[in-house]
Amino acid sequence: MSRAKLVVVGSSNIDMVVKAERIPCPGETLLGNEFAMVPGGKGANQAVCAAKLGADVKFVARVGDDVFGETSLANFHRVGVNTEFVIKDTDHPSGVALIVVDIAGENAIVVAPGANHALTPADVDRAAEAIRVADVVLLQLEIPSETVTHTIDLARALGVRVVLNPAPIRPISRETLAKVDVLVPNQHEAAYLVGAPSGLELEAELAARKLIELGARAVVITLGSNGAYVADESGGHFVEAYKVTAVDTTAAGDAFTASLACGIAEGMSLIDAARFATKVAALSVTRLGAQSSMPSRDEVDRLGGI
Ligand code: RIB
Repeated sequence: MSRAKLVVVGSSNIDMVVKAERIPCPGETLLGNEFAMVPGGKGANQAVCAAKLGADVKFVARVGDDVFGETSLANFHRVGVNTEFVIKDTDHPSGVALIVVDIAGENAIVVAPGANHALTPADVDRAAEAIRVADVVLLQLEIPSETVTHTIDLARALGVRVVLNPAPIRPISRETLAKVDVLVPNQHEAAYLVGAPSGLELEAELAARKLIELGARAVVITLGSNGAYVADESGGHFVEAYKVTAVDTTAAGDAFTASLACGIAEGMSLIDAARFATKVAALSVTRLGAQSSMPSRDEVDRLGGI
């Protein structure tokens, strides 16, 4: 089987992670436990995850011309992510994320986007030939909106499927939604997009139906330890989560989205790709960090099933 070809257009950050008993309240100083500085960023996490699963991954991004950018690039090279379209931006620093992880593995994150916010449509155009021959183009929302919409338009014009992980959430026009092949929000992002007050598991079905009415061809809503809800025009199904003890849920959504995109690119049905993705996401939450938590294909295969 030839390798699935993915182009990931997105962000790259360095994550400053502190483990603490709990996430601090506004105005509070808490003493935490261990500290780690690891490569992150939703785009980069997804690119690394897909490469570790065996895909041929080209990443379109901007990092700063600084030590953080070098650290990220070194990790891309180590895991085999192609960096031909990763620009070293001499005007902006690398993106940085400050992350607190509590004892249940839940997190709170704030991102200083730096060079990520300088990624332009012209940067994406440089990768047009790579996009033309890709199986899937994968995007998130940590880069400028105009770059996201331009990439989606380009992929569609070239007949390439688009998977969009709308994180961090912001408004998305109906016109853009209608060009997305698979939308992968978490329950809060799905609730925001349909204008609902919350994204409880019970409402996933309704939210997915509404998102399809709004134009998305297929929707996979991630529900944390409750699995995922997969829907397209023909109907929907819940997919159970793989049960594990969470150490750090940071980048679980990235692991899920990237492996779903890989599965689709490899020719799996959407439901099988979602089953595969729940296994990858489950393995990722058993380890600290973002890119450092992504499993290899062998580890996923050892879990059995799809
Ligand atoms: O999805 C997790 C990621 O969000 C972190 O790696 C952090 O960099 C932020 O982009």
